[in-house]
Amino acid sequence: MELFALNRKRIFESELEGWAFLQGGKNSCRYDTDRDNLFRQESNFFWLTGIVEGDCDLIMDFTNKKVIVFCAKLPQAYAVWLGPIPTLKELSEKYGLDFFYQEELANFVKTNSITKFHVHTTYTKQKELEEIETDDSVLKETLNELRVIKTELELEKMREVCKIGSIGHTKVMETTKPNQFQYELQGTLLHEYYRHGSRFTSFEAIVGSGVGTSILHYFNNNLKINDGDLVLLDSGCEVDCYGSDITRTFPANGVFSQDQKMIYQIVLDMQKQCIKAMAPEKEWTEIHALSVEVCIDGLLECGLIKGKKEELIENHIAALFYPHGLGHMLGLDVHDVGGYPKGREKIKNATFQYLRANRKLKPGMILTVEPGIYFIRPLLEPAFEDPEVNKYLNVDKIKKFLDFGGIRIEDDVLVTETGYEVLTDVPKEIEDIEKLMKK
Ligand code: GLY
Ligand code: MN
Repeated sequence: MELFALNRKRIFESELEGWAFLQGGKNSCRYDTDRDNLFRQESNFFWLTGIVEGDCDLIMDFTNKKVIVFCAKLPQAYAVWLGPIPTLKELSEKYGLDFFYQEELANFVKTNSITKFHVHTTYTKQKELEEIETDDSVLKETLNELRVIKTELELEKMREVCKIGSIGHTKVMETTKPNQFQYELQGTLLHEYYRHGSRFTSFEAIVGSGVGTSILHYFNNNLKINDGDLVLLDSGCEVDCYGSDITRTFPANGVFSQDQKMIYQIVLDMQKQCIKAMAPEKEWTEIHALSVEVCIDGLLECGLIKGKKEELIENHIAALFYPHGLGHMLGLDVHDVGGYPKGREKIKNATFQYLRANRKLKPGMILTVEPGIYFIRPLLEPAFEDPEVNKYLNVDKIKKFLDFGGIRIEDDVLVTETGYEVLTDVPKEIEDIEKLMKK
């Protein structure tokens, strides 16, 4: 609760005035059934309160620096199915906030003569507030900018999920064998998360193998893993809604082939050089550009592409093999808020279009660093036919890699006053992976 009290203190020190209204997450069921979905609080609402119950909304009173919560009034009969239903007093004591039932919202607004609310851009019209003017121009940006910089208390949570995530990934790497199904690896991973205190994942785990490692957001996870396949595991766990995000790619049989080693080493160089370049005041776009440069150097060196380095960069040739951004903000959400602050836009070319952040690094920010190289037929096959592009490609050589799949390596990195700190710790050097898998 100290963590959330500090978050509230920070927003009450912002320039916002008057009143704000924020809707919390809603309980829901699977389609047209009474089977409950597992509830996970909306991140902004959680950041302000730590409330884990669904169907609450809140008012922020910037004059008196107070948050007032309006929760659902459940009939006592529900206690039979749900267990004891907390009273307003109990909720108030648990969270250190004033609680009312939703039914009292309209009256509260009237009594306090509220005529205007700051709302988030996701605000959906609510009948009790029909008469109230709403302004969605500043609340989201204010919350985003605060969430981007983690407090020491938030950092404790982030360190915890990075540690649990690392334990899970290391365990999977250690125990993977050919002929397992992808979801068996997911089972091992979730078991490690659960037993170390994380019941939620920050997103559905990506467990790709073979050619499927080139599908960026693959999560069917239902295929058999073959001897000789690469396995790409991209997953993170959550504790108190704070999440991690880690990717490792490794050979299912524990030994990299020569081709796998060659591509893996380029990606590892991209990642290590970019992490080393992280420091306050550095532009994230520049670090992404560095990853592109190292990618081009590596692909040139192994003879998959040809031409002058500057020309290859200018013509976005790396994006054929590395069609995503270097990384993203991390926190309560896996692709966390604040990547594009006011005044910063997406750079709309093939090299930068999927970069999830365009801003200067500041101490307290956490970003993922996750370069990759993939052989993706829908990108490469049209390129083979395009004379403006194929002049830079050694097409015959690349064709031999069309079933290779892809490699991504991802760690979570905190920007510090003097540089950076890598929060995740899973083997990633080739010899360390092979050594662990041999055990
Ligand atoms: N780890 C999945 C992603 O960042 O998109
Ligand atoms: Mn990621």
